[in-house]
Amino acid sequence: MEPQPEKRHIAIFASGNGTNAENITAYFNNGNNQAYEVALIVCNKPDAMVLQRAEKLGVPSKVISKAQINDQETMLELLEGYSIDLIVLAGFLLMIPPFLLEHYRDRIINIHPSLLPKYGGKGMFGHHVHEAVVAAHEKETGITVHIVDERCDEGRIIFQASTPLSASDTPDDVERKVHSLEREHFPRVIEQTLASLPSR
Ligand code: GAR
Repeated sequence: MEPQPEKRHIAIFASGNGTNAENITAYFNNGNNQAYEVALIVCNKPDAMVLQRAEKLGVPSKVISKAQINDQETMLELLEGYSIDLIVLAGFLLMIPPFLLEHYRDRIINIHPSLLPKYGGKGMFGHHVHEAVVAAHEKETGITVHIVDERCDEGRIIFQASTPLSASDTPDDVERKVHSLEREHFPRVIEQTLASLPSR
């Protein structure tokens, strides 16, 4: 029998509800793509819904404090313990420390719920973004997937998708439209990113 190539392992970092974490895990871990697997979910909020989702999905999860994410030994031991190839930020609200950016250079991606560079930067997350988009009477919004670097929401963009808005859309409506784009596109963007990465 041919030797099977090693699976590539994804870690998802999330802070809240975790609909993206669930959708990504369902995509990879139910046999769609045998080459890739969500091996770990990392969360900085002990009561976040994403942890319940991880348990239901049968994916190991780890709660880390702000101090722990900034501790090189703790984080590298955790991530190397699961042979992580790619870190996916899906609603993760802490900054990624320089040693992780260095160790996983071009291997950390983030999804942002707007068409960057619009509505990015400090304080722009989740509902705050959708409220700003409605207040500015934007005719469209969308999602951006980008490489994470030292700057907030400014790393190289690898994917964008947009959706039209109507004048009557509320921030909740905008959020629904954005989530629908995330659901449709994010797993495939992750798959393509992994396919383009050399083995570690
Ligand atoms: C997603 O819409 C994601 O784009 C956004 O948080 C939401 C998390 O939803 N991320 C940011 O705002 C990052 N600045 P989820 O927890 O249901 O996946």
